[in-house]
Amino acid sequence: MIPFWFTEYLRVNMESITIIQPDDFHLHLRDEEALNSIVHDSARQFARAIVMPNLKPPVTSVEIAMDYRKRILACLSEDTNFQPLMTLYLTDKTSSEDIDDIENSEHVHAVKYYPAGATTNSEFGVTNLEKSYPVLEKMRDAGVPLLIHGEVTDPDVDPFDREKVFIENVLAPLIQKFEGLKVVLEHITTREAVDFIIQGPATLAATITPQHLLYNRGALFKNGLRPHYYCLPVLKREEHRQAIVNAAISGNEKFFLGTDSAPHAIGDKENDCGCAGIYSAFNALEIYTQIFDEQGCLDKLELFASVNGAKFYGLAVNTHKVTLVKQSWDIPKSLPFGYSELIPLMAGETLQWKLQTA
Ligand code: NCD
Ligand code: ZN
Repeated sequence: MIPFWFTEYLRVNMESITIIQPDDFHLHLRDEEALNSIVHDSARQFARAIVMPNLKPPVTSVEIAMDYRKRILACLSEDTNFQPLMTLYLTDKTSSEDIDDIENSEHVHAVKYYPAGATTNSEFGVTNLEKSYPVLEKMRDAGVPLLIHGEVTDPDVDPFDREKVFIENVLAPLIQKFEGLKVVLEHITTREAVDFIIQGPATLAATITPQHLLYNRGALFKNGLRPHYYCLPVLKREEHRQAIVNAAISGNEKFFLGTDSAPHAIGDKENDCGCAGIYSAFNALEIYTQIFDEQGCLDKLELFASVNGAKFYGLAVNTHKVTLVKQSWDIPKSLPFGYSELIPLMAGETLQWKLQTA
């Protein structure tokens, strides 16, 4: 048996950290060959993940979600205990019966709202949120969280202001109207979003990605146009990055880990109309750890990565622990992705933290 003093030593030792195994509360796993080539990366680090429903066609019913869940689990060997937590895609056709089905399901945990046209595969999204009011009422009463891609789609609104305007024009009135509805503002990118979440009710929370902690919008234009730094919401100014970092390391239970890992084949990124999305699932936990270490806040990592999200979703915190050690390792320049390849976050760079394998 490992003596108590040794585990305590590991917990506080500068060169390693042991935490409850984290969950990823915002993940795109895609489907078919692509799914098979990426799901192992998430399963290496995370116990559970909220799986986004923006497939083509989207995941719009519990039945479709359960089939998708089976395909995800079929890619994994029996010795991994990774649990996909499924979501449904809110469309103009989502009904109160769909919410009943979620209530009766063990495996579907939330509904995702994409304003139509906001991002990759969002053309099925809601055109006018008022049409969804009966569904939102039902979700509020059933305690089903609404996950939001918080950007307006109006082409007249500057792309760098779309989150801020969404908060003012859509989210603030929505929160007022549906008091008690659990809402996660996904992948926040601005100081305004951080302030709004802090000031909001306990039923309002946000996920934070590794790329929005690492980079400001300068990364998109460093020595040329950089498609692999392009995701939605787009990277913002440095002052916003700093606000996001401060939110993540604060320990505030309203902020938790969601990678928004969103893989695209290299040809779809390096294109005259490149897709939005950054693949971070390969090394996300190690990147978050490095950021918390650089901020001198490793003691807050467990709250952000393993506790706050589970609590918000009403899930038990994981029992398994993982250890990360300070050890440099090189990120590959590319990875296989279905019949193609993709470029991961921090491709060709060196990371200072590594998750220990059992
Ligand atoms: C996501 C994708 O590719 O599915 N892209 C992204 O830039 N984040 C969609 C999304 O979450 O917006
Ligand atoms: Zn996403």
